[in-house]
Amino acid sequence: MKKQIYLLLSLLFVFIIAGCGNKESNNGVENALQQTDSQIEQSTDYEQEGSEAKKQESEIIASEPEQEPDMETNILVVYFSATGTTKPLAEYATEILNADLYEIVPEDPYTEADLAYYTNGRADQEQNDSSARPGISGSVENIEQYDTIVLGYPIWHGQAPRIISTFLESYDFSGKTIAPFCTSHSSGIGSSADNLHSLCSDSAKWVDGKRFESGTSKETMAEWLENVEIR
Ligand SMILES: Cc1cc2nc3c(=O)[nH]c(=O)nc-3n(C[C@H](O)[C@H](O)[C@H](O)COP(=O)(O)O)c2cc1C
Repeated sequence: MKKQIYLLLSLLFVFIIAGCGNKESNNGVENALQQTDSQIEQSTDYEQEGSEAKKQESEIIASEPEQEPDMETNILVVYFSATGTTKPLAEYATEILNADLYEIVPEDPYTEADLAYYTNGRADQEQNDSSARPGISGSVENIEQYDTIVLGYPIWHGQAPRIISTFLESYDFSGKTIAPFCTSHSSGIGSSADNLHSLCSDSAKWVDGKRFESGTSKETMAEWLENVEIR
């Protein structure tokens, strides 16, 4: 009898263990299914987000105004810069005025020795000779397009470098407005602009020029352009 009871109990035990195991494995499958479901949900979310983003992107593209065709500017910023001080100011003026930019490039580039002043080097000699006209490489193709010229140069012995004279004598500035500016160690714009004016047609209108120091900010350039009568 005892034997039968043991057998019965062992069978009961086996059933209970098997039942639990099943439940566990079912739970595993359920978990896996739940995981897969949430992955599917997630990926659908991503797809929805993706298509939403695409939709928004295309809406942005659709609502963007058509690009304005490049408007021809009537302002040309012209500059000569032997050592790079005047150049950024000319670039600021170009950006501020939405103008075109033209660099006066010497046919014969200035070397460091040429620019060493008070050595009777090339630059000194040119400045001592009011008839010196150093050659320019290239030219402005469509000068007629411009009503206003903003002209930047360094001060060399109190005057504009002679290459600026070459530039002004190469075109007809009748009826145009010219706004000169310069950079220097310390000298002001002085008589440099007046002397340049005398090289141009009388009908060219010269506005008051300004001297800027090295490292002048775009804001300072903007202030001058705001106040100068060029537009
Ligand atoms: C030949 C020569 C002469 C110069 N003469 C003067 C001058 O008379 N007064 C002055 O303040 N700076 C003078 N400078 C300094 C330049 O005007 C100054 O460094 C200027 O900002 C340089 O501009 P850039 O780097 O655009 O060429 C002279 C420079 C050179 C090369």
